[in-house]
Amino acid sequence: MTERTCLSIVLAAGEGTRMKSAKPKVLHEVAGLSMLGHVLRAVAAAGGTAAAVVVGPGREDVAAEARRLVPDASVHVQSERLGTAHAVLHAEEVLARGYDDVIVAFGDTPLVTAETFARLRTGLAEGAAVVALGFEAADPFGYGRLVVEGGSLLAIVEEREASEEERAITLCNGGLMALSGAYAVEILKWIGNANAKGEYYLTDAVAIARNMGLRAAFVTAAEEDVHGVNDRVQLAAAEAIMQVRLREAAMRAGVTMAAPETVFLAFDTAFGRDVMLEPHIVVGTGVTVEDEVTIRAYSHLAGCHIAKGATVGPFARIRPKSRIGEGVHIGNFVEVNRTSMGARAEANHLAYLGDATVGAGTNIGAGTITCNFDGADKNPTVIGRDVFVGSNSTLVAPLTIGDEVLVAAGSTITQDVVDGALAFGRPRQAALPGRGAEKIRSNKVRRAERKAREAAAKA
Ligand code: UD1
Ligand code: CA
Repeated sequence: MTERTCLSIVLAAGEGTRMKSAKPKVLHEVAGLSMLGHVLRAVAAAGGTAAAVVVGPGREDVAAEARRLVPDASVHVQSERLGTAHAVLHAEEVLARGYDDVIVAFGDTPLVTAETFARLRTGLAEGAAVVALGFEAADPFGYGRLVVEGGSLLAIVEEREASEEERAITLCNGGLMALSGAYAVEILKWIGNANAKGEYYLTDAVAIARNMGLRAAFVTAAEEDVHGVNDRVQLAAAEAIMQVRLREAAMRAGVTMAAPETVFLAFDTAFGRDVMLEPHIVVGTGVTVEDEVTIRAYSHLAGCHIAKGATVGPFARIRPKSRIGEGVHIGNFVEVNRTSMGARAEANHLAYLGDATVGAGTNIGAGTITCNFDGADKNPTVIGRDVFVGSNSTLVAPLTIGDEVLVAAGSTITQDVVDGALAFGRPRQAALPGRGAEKIRSNKVRRAERKAREAAAKA
């Protein structure tokens, strides 16, 4: 099948008014990727050689997203929304280049899998001119029905045109369809709009192919695979299904999750083996995690790399462009932002590391803050290897601290420190003999006098 060429046409001209959004529907995200992106990835994974995206007028944002994901995708503007077949024909010039297989997908159906597209293509390879995607609908209302006789597909009838008998059919049209490239344009051009909606229905391709003496077939998928998104409730349902898939894939690849339903992953999260995820973790896009990493409860990660054997959290935040080295310990209430931590470095409690480079084996004490922002610019802090930064230190960037430096607790460090130095950045301690006890005792006396006055006033 790999030798067969394949054009995918993704329909994304929907207005999505029910999303109540300034953003077009297909750009809303599921697991950190636009719905359009999910569809384009699935068709590419099913061996798509070219992609065409049909967008509504003025939808430069949708066109840009399509090109971001598939740089050579062609974009076609459907100015009038006259139906699914009408939309597909906007890619006629691309169709005319001649592909073996043509897949039509909907941009608002983000859960279709590459495996489903591959099965649609197999139907074409086996000689069908049209292959529809059916599913058993819990509630068939509103869907096109697959009229099947003796295992072969006769027609797809839309809800509005369906007879009483046809409405009783529960095998519904998932919407997506595969067409033989050799006949696609001819079939599509035969489709008319003499129906209740006055639309050019892609689904009519089935009956037309049969009238041309060609064969129509269907494959089936689970209802959740063809889940369409029209509003934000359906968007949340799509997210939930996607999260289940991502968690299961991670667990099958060697990740342990004590409470998978509380772990949220992104479409591109990559895990090694023997990774341990405690409950309540949110992972944004662009995260890679190597073997034997433990991420503890209530941590938030995005755009970062966590190397082998590191421990992160609980309650840690690792922000984009951060690299956590091998065996590093990031503890509770530590925020790491655009920062690289060398092997075995530690920041175990309450710290902010921004725009920093921390050397191997360095210990960052509790309460340490890199002052990376001066109100106008972000500045770097470079800390060498085997450094000990005492608790509650304030490191004012730009700053370079050498190797094996000891920064005294409570220091404010504003100037570079050379290798091996002990750096103090705090007032010297003073102790006045006897003055503490004197003060404490006089306080006790004054407090007793005040209470006596208050009691007398009440009496
Ligand atoms: C379609 C199918 C129906 C199927 C259902 C599954 C047709 C005629 N009907 O119905 O059999 O059960 O999907 O959800 O295909 N679009 C355009 N331009 C248009 C019209 C539609 O780009 O002119 C896009 C929409 O943005 C959407 C998709 O095509 O992504 C489907 O269109 P929609 O109007 O939602 O079709 P349904 O009535 O749901
Ligand atoms: Ca629809």
